[in-house]
Amino acid sequence: MADVLSPALQDRPAPDKVPDVHISIRNVEKVYRSQRGSVVALENVSLDVAKGEFVSILGPSGCGKSTLLKCIAGLEPLSGGEIFVGRQRVAEPPKDLGVVFQRDILFDWRTTLDNVLVTVEFLGLKRRDYEARARSLLATYGLAGYENRYPWELSGGQRQRVAICRAMVHDPQFLLMDEPFGALDALTRDELNLELQNRWFADRKTIIFITHGISEAVFLSDRVIVMGRNPGRIIADVKIDLPRPRGVAVRDTAAFTAYTGRLRAIMDDANAGITHAGVLS
Ligand SMILES: Nc1ncnc2c1ncn2[C@@H]1O[C@H](COP(=O)(O)OP(=O)(O)OP(=O)(O)O)[C@@H](O)[C@H]1O
Ligand SMILES: [Mg+2]
Repeated sequence: MADVLSPALQDRPAPDKVPDVHISIRNVEKVYRSQRGSVVALENVSLDVAKGEFVSILGPSGCGKSTLLKCIAGLEPLSGGEIFVGRQRVAEPPKDLGVVFQRDILFDWRTTLDNVLVTVEFLGLKRRDYEARARSLLATYGLAGYENRYPWELSGGQRQRVAICRAMVHDPQFLLMDEPFGALDALTRDELNLELQNRWFADRKTIIFITHGISEAVFLSDRVIVMGRNPGRIIADVKIDLPRPRGVAVRDTAAFTAYTGRLRAIMDDANAGITHAGVLS
């Protein structure tokens, strides 16, 4: 098992010269300023994600995971550095992106189906071209029959699944997911992990997935990034070399528990504020 941080980005060719890099985060800084002072949420964060790669981000509360996701999504201006999605430097939300936010943001006055189709309307696409896909996604996520219910008639887990369908309805090439299964019971979470993995295996979207679950991260990912806090930064980049597709039984293998053990140790260090000097190898 190798824990190797990406080589220094300044040594790398520009993102438009590397065809398989989908998302390139380069020396990103993010400082939130207010009257009460400044918070350095991200300091010198650099990360390349390849086309079709599944990358998870782990890290203690407040280390800047959601901030990084909002920066990639073009929803927060950077204080320094740059982010490319494909050849485009991110300045506004990329069209080919689906986002599941940490808190599900559903519109209470819209039905489940209409909440899923919000993305389509927002992008100015034709609703009728996406309605069948919206219904089929809802069915995949166990919500057939709920199309005409309102958010306040759904459980927390169901609401979260509607948010996932909404992020996927326009078939984006990359997905940012901020603790999408955090509020779910363990069994549902396992089911949705399996479903997400199978779907990813079939259509190989690029996914950045934020979670507090070490086991979930290892199960789903090609790579797991660990962030530390004060300031928010990347402290480890662990390649997960387990065969695909993965079934639930993979969790009982020695290789799997070796990964979770290693990541737990890194997370403990992150929580204790211990710095892994730059490159882990
Ligand atoms: N809009 C904001 N204004 C000021 N500070 C902010 C803002 N959003 C986040 N922060 C601060 O930036 C830091 C990183 O926050 P962020 O939400 O990115 O953390 P996180 O890793 O997603 O945490 P969690 O695991 O709890 O979701 C925190 O110290 C937080 O208080
Ligand atoms: Mg967060």
